[in-house]
Amino acid sequence: MKYTHQQLFTSTLMQWHKKHNKRTMPWKGEKDPYKIWLSEIILQQTRVEQGTAYYEKFIHTYPTIHQLAKAKDEAVFKLWEGLGYYNRCKNLLFTARKIVAEYKGIFPTNYEDILQLKGVGTYTAAAIAAFAYNQPYAVVDGNVFRVLSRYFGIDTAIDSTEGKQLFTKLAYTVLDKKNAALYNQAIMDFGATVCKPFLPQCHQCIIKTHCTAYTNGQVNQLPIKEKKLTKKKRWLYYFIFKCENEILIHQRMNKDIWQNLFEFYCFETDTQIQWNKKLIESVLKELNIQQYHNIHISKEYEQQLTHQHISGKFIQIDLFAIPTTLKTYQWIAEKNIHQLAFPKFINHFMENEGVKKAVNT
Ligand code: ADE
Repeated sequence: MKYTHQQLFTSTLMQWHKKHNKRTMPWKGEKDPYKIWLSEIILQQTRVEQGTAYYEKFIHTYPTIHQLAKAKDEAVFKLWEGLGYYNRCKNLLFTARKIVAEYKGIFPTNYEDILQLKGVGTYTAAAIAAFAYNQPYAVVDGNVFRVLSRYFGIDTAIDSTEGKQLFTKLAYTVLDKKNAALYNQAIMDFGATVCKPFLPQCHQCIIKTHCTAYTNGQVNQLPIKEKKLTKKKRWLYYFIFKCENEILIHQRMNKDIWQNLFEFYCFETDTQIQWNKKLIESVLKELNIQQYHNIHISKEYEQQLTHQHISGKFIQIDLFAIPTTLKTYQWIAEKNIHQLAFPKFINHFMENEGVKKAVNT
């Protein structure tokens, strides 16, 4: 059963890549390990949008590894300007010179040898082995964590030792071993364009019917990170889904603030969101909610905890019916809600504004 679920994931993802993946990037389909290595090192520093210009500049100035190896340090640092972490740029030069001196300018083809290069970790080594040589290595980056945790409904923290092992193993299991180059590109692009961190495009996702998070209405809760405590500012946007005097509630179970306390449907972000009707409707669309009675947005609430600052709003949506995507949640009669323990942040809202009476129900 599980095997089928995994196989389905791989084959549907490959189908998506062939038919629907419209993402273009200059290094896509590239087979030259030098160019792949360069693009991956740049992309560790910045997003694709900004990284593309740096990549083009580097390839234009140093079309081959020989040219990069011969370059003056200062000239390369100048090209790197704005990317930060100059140590990475130093490693880039060191590795280029080593490959020219020790490998006659020819990139090693063996994964273990690639991994020995300075500045190359397991992610970059897998990317080079798979993209350049189509060897069966699975890349594991933020996109991969997110797509796998949602599709398979895994709530193990992606930044825990256990999580890293689990996701690395799973990434290899679902890898299309014969088409590693295409598959790795597919999962990264899918994570970047469909299964996005914020406002994932579930409505146009061709694997949603088999996606555990989608089926259980947990897309915005996954993946889980353990080390949220290190984050200074967090924005919690609570969607209060109300349907015929019942309200959706959820008990916080993760190793995080407010463990065991209850909350509404939580939409967490690491930046402030300017909510408006259109944006709310796009969230509703992802939850398969087409119709609702009305929307009410609260004022902003704040709470200072010992190590983090919480801000957020409460967005009440009065529904006609409970959509299947939210059926697995607990729904409780509004009159019984005071029996549950909520965090102070939510109680503050309840005392100030509270759940509004539905207008049309
Ligand atoms: N991010 C890092 N490497 C990437 C790649 N090859 N394709 C898409 N996104 C990436």
